[in-house]
Amino acid sequence: MEITNVMEYEAIAKQKLPKMIFDYYAAGAEDQWTLKENRNAFSRILFRPRILIDVSKIDMTTTVLGFKISMPIMIAPTAMQKMAHPEGEFATARAASAAGTIMTLSSWATSSVEEVASTGPGIRFFQLYVFKDRNVVRQLVRRAERAGFKAIALTVDTPRLGRREADIKNRFALPSHLTLKNFEGLDLGKIDKTNDSGLASYVAGQVDRSLNWKDVQWLKTITPLPIIVKGIITAEDAILAIQHGAAGIIVSNHGARQLDYVPATIMALEEIGRPVVFSLAADGEAGVRKVLQMLRDEFELTMALSGCRSLKEITRNHIVTDWDVPRAISRL
Ligand code: LAC
Repeated sequence: MEITNVMEYEAIAKQKLPKMIFDYYAAGAEDQWTLKENRNAFSRILFRPRILIDVSKIDMTTTVLGFKISMPIMIAPTAMQKMAHPEGEFATARAASAAGTIMTLSSWATSSVEEVASTGPGIRFFQLYVFKDRNVVRQLVRRAERAGFKAIALTVDTPRLGRREADIKNRFALPSHLTLKNFEGLDLGKIDKTNDSGLASYVAGQVDRSLNWKDVQWLKTITPLPIIVKGIITAEDAILAIQHGAAGIIVSNHGARQLDYVPATIMALEEIGRPVVFSLAADGEAGVRKVLQMLRDEFELTMALSGCRSLKEITRNHIVTDWDVPRAISRL
């Protein structure tokens, strides 16, 4: 039957994938309150459509760090995509460039930066985890530069891995036929089975918990690429990021996989991570292409039905939320 809603891919992925893998992609941390809230919060934001505006032409193009993209929807980094489908990150990279948008490749991809670059042209960013061994970081960043990646998205919300209970129960490990391809040949390339989540042990062993604002400045000394700080959910940190020389920020609660009981991200570009891996599992590159097309169509139709012809015309007045009411009352 034809897929008409992005959410349908989740059920297909659940049927197709081994439980350990599906649970890894699907799970949030702890009680998964934020996981539910990430979706629920959207249902508390309603449209205030304006009518009788000529919407025969809709322009959804925009720029990110000066790079032109066809729509305000991008692919967030998700790790280990070959667990979802044999073509993994290759399929996602091709679908992203066919859609004219940006893919951010995870440090912990099952395809290397060079391999992803070889899939063809496309604007790509590289997500960076900072390892205790800074030589590993230097080399990785240099390889990303050489492979034509355009920015570094530094993850800042993971000094330790969030407690994903499903991964603990399943004793999550990277299937043995796969490697974290960016680290092939190093002992950082595998995620072994432990008495915990294998990924939690990996993070505890390898990731630098001392990471702090000075390291953003350090990163700027080792690469000319713009640095985007990924994992910010407060205005205070957004300001600090810019003060420390970040070219941009990604407002994210890491798909609800880190600290539970933080607010929903409420940003379409953050919600796209899971639909991509689920559609990849269901139908490879064709699935990812279809997800991007469906999101594009939905966005465009919503613009047309709300009377917005370009992204600039979308304003705060085009929505109303249930927290506008208490706010309005407090102003009385
Ligand atoms: C995760 C890491 C790998 O959320 O980003 O599983």
